[in-house]
Amino acid sequence: ENKHVGTVEDIYETLIVNKFDRNDMLLALGGGVTGDITGFAAATYLRGIDFVQVPTTLLSQVDSSIGGKTGVDFKAYKNMVGAFYMPKLVYMNLSTLNSLPEREYLEGMGEIIKHGLIRDKEYFYWLKENKDKIISRDYETVKKMIFVSCNIKRVVVENDPKEKGERAVLNFGHTIGHAVEKAKNFSLLHGECVAIGMAAATYISLKKGNIAEEEYNEINNVISDFKLPVYTTGILASDVVKATKNDKKMDSGVIKFITLEENGHAIIDRTISEELLLEATETVIRG
Ligand SMILES: NC(=O)c1ccc[n+]([C@@H]2O[C@H](COP(=O)([O-])OP(=O)(O)OC[C@H]3O[C@@H](n4cnc5c(N)ncnc54)[C@H](O)[C@@H]3O)[C@@H](O)[C@H]2O)c1
Ligand SMILES: [Zn+2]
Repeated sequence: ENKHVGTVEDIYETLIVNKFDRNDMLLALGGGVTGDITGFAAATYLRGIDFVQVPTTLLSQVDSSIGGKTGVDFKAYKNMVGAFYMPKLVYMNLSTLNSLPEREYLEGMGEIIKHGLIRDKEYFYWLKENKDKIISRDYETVKKMIFVSCNIKRVVVENDPKEKGERAVLNFGHTIGHAVEKAKNFSLLHGECVAIGMAAATYISLKKGNIAEEEYNEINNVISDFKLPVYTTGILASDVVKATKNDKKMDSGVIKFITLEENGHAIIDRTISEELLLEATETVIRG
C-alpha cells in the first residue's frame, strides 16, 4: 500500500520544507516496508544522507535491514526502483517482537528457514528441533536465531554486495514466491509467498536429482511446522509462470533460478526449462 514512489515524494517534501541538509539523518523505525522506503529516500535525498535502521519485525531484523538493498515498488512490479545503500547502524531491540501478531511474526520464519536451506544445514535442523521455543518467542532462542540468520546474510552480502553472483542465492524461493505474491494480489504476506516459492524450488531440486524424496518431504514439513503455507489456491500456474518473467532475476532473458544442490547449499541454475517451472508451480497450487 505504501511502498511506492509517492511516499518517497512525501518524504522529500517534508525534508525540504524542514530544511534537512547533508548533516541530518533518517531513522527507519518499523518493518521492512519502512526500512526500504526510508533507505531509498536517504540514498537519494541530496545524493545521499545517513540513515539508521531500527527494524521492529522478525522479517526486517533477519533480512531487510541487513545488506543495503533499499527501494520501492513501481506499479505492480515489486522493488523495481531502488538503490544499494548501507545504513550507518542497524539497531534491534528484540522486545519489539512481542507486539507482533502471530501471522506477522511467523512470516519472518520464511526467510529464516531459507537461510538454513541455502547455507547451513545444521541451522535448518536446529530450527526444526527448537520450533516450539521459537513459536512461543522464547527470548534466548530467538536471540540466537536472529544472530545466526543475520550472520548468514552478512557473509553472503559481504562476498557479493551488488549481486553480481553469489548474493542471488538469497533469492531462493523468491522467483515463484514474488510471482505468487502478485497473482494473489498481495493478499498473502511476503514470507508466506517465499514459503510457497521454496516448496516449488525444492521440488525443482528434487526433479534435478539433487535432493532425495525424504528431504523434499522434510523441508515441506519444517515449513508447515512454522504454520507457513506450502501451497495456495485460486490462481493459475500459467499466470504465475508468466509473472516470473517480469522478475528481476533474469539475465539477458535467461532465468537465474536458485535451486538446492543439497540441503544447506543453494546454487544458481540457468538451465531450468519453462516446462519444469510450470510443473513445479503446479505442485504449489491446489484446488
Ligand atoms: N531490502 C531487503 O533486502 C528486503 C528483504 C526482504 C524483504 N524486504 C521487504 O520488506 C517488506 C516486508 O517487511 P515486513 O515483513 O517487516 O512487513 P511490514 O513492514 O509491512 O510490517 C508488517 C506489519 O507489522 C507492523 N509492525 C511493525 N513492527 C511492529 C511491531 N513491533 N509490533 C506490531 N506491529 C508491527 C507494521 O506496521 C505492518 O503493519 C516487503 O516490502 C519486502 O519486499 C526487503
Ligand atoms: Zn524476501
